[in-house]
Amino acid sequence: MSVAATERIGRALISWYRSSGRTLRIRERTDPYSVLVVEVMAQQTQISRVETLAERFFARFPTLADLARAETAEVLEAWRGLGYNRRALALHRAAATAHALGGLPKEVEALQELPGIGPYTARAVAAIAYGGRSIPVDVNIARVVGRILGAEGSLKPRALQEAADRFGEPLGDGEAAAWAQAAMDLAATHCTAAAPRCGDCPIAADCASAGRVAAPPPRRERGSATPFPATRRWLRGRIIDELRDAGAEGAVITGARGLHDAGAVDAALEGLVAEGLVEPAGDGRVRLPRRAAQGAAPSIL
Ligand code: ADE
Repeated sequence: MSVAATERIGRALISWYRSSGRTLRIRERTDPYSVLVVEVMAQQTQISRVETLAERFFARFPTLADLARAETAEVLEAWRGLGYNRRALALHRAAATAHALGGLPKEVEALQELPGIGPYTARAVAAIAYGGRSIPVDVNIARVVGRILGAEGSLKPRALQEAADRFGEPLGDGEAAAWAQAAMDLAATHCTAAAPRCGDCPIAADCASAGRVAAPPPRRERGSATPFPATRRWLRGRIIDELRDAGAEGAVITGARGLHDAGAVDAALEGLVAEGLVEPAGDGRVRLPRRAAQGAAPSIL
């Protein structure tokens, strides 16, 4: 793709974003700590849900220092409703490590060295909070970039990141954040996975896939996927919810839960303890861990 086309796409995308992007409360928070929290939440949770639950989280932990000093149990309590609770542990560790270093670093490489922070989150924080020019690539941005280049689904992560960064290079200060969030919005409104609306896409003129995205394969038969309450994830979430309600005393977790027999409950509990999401509390009781962030390197704390 020519440099001129890259720049044209950037201008069209950013101007569309300014006039037609989604209005999201989370985007009003552009300090590094808030961006880190929101981006970790948004990884596996719908943005509409993040909008509400992030405010509750920030009310409880307004700053990096507040989160860094919290007990794991408090962080897991504030994570209620967001699911995938392991993310809360990783966020807590990252916050404790960053706080011990004096704050969240600015550079992608340094951000990525924090526990649990991957290439996407590091770039999202660098771009949105610090004006970095490397474009964060999640599945939605990958789809947009892949389609622009006519190579949807065929680029390896490294090639995709390099392709995305070519869009970031010519941008001005702070514009990579607008570019990335524009691409997220375009992915949600026009460049959807199943039924792209190329007709009124602001960058259709420069997109190799405009009007040519193949119809997706037929949907899986309804009911063929495992129903959520039958999954291990449901059971783990249910146990954590019970322990959120139980407080510091904890609870005895034995016996069947929903569709899961007592053996499955024991196994799930064992897994949660091994991962540091739950701790023994004596007398056969378990609880959410009443301790500081786990694993933040002791040498720097
Ligand atoms: N998903 C992940 N990060 C997002 C953001 N900053 N805006 C909208 N959706 C997102």
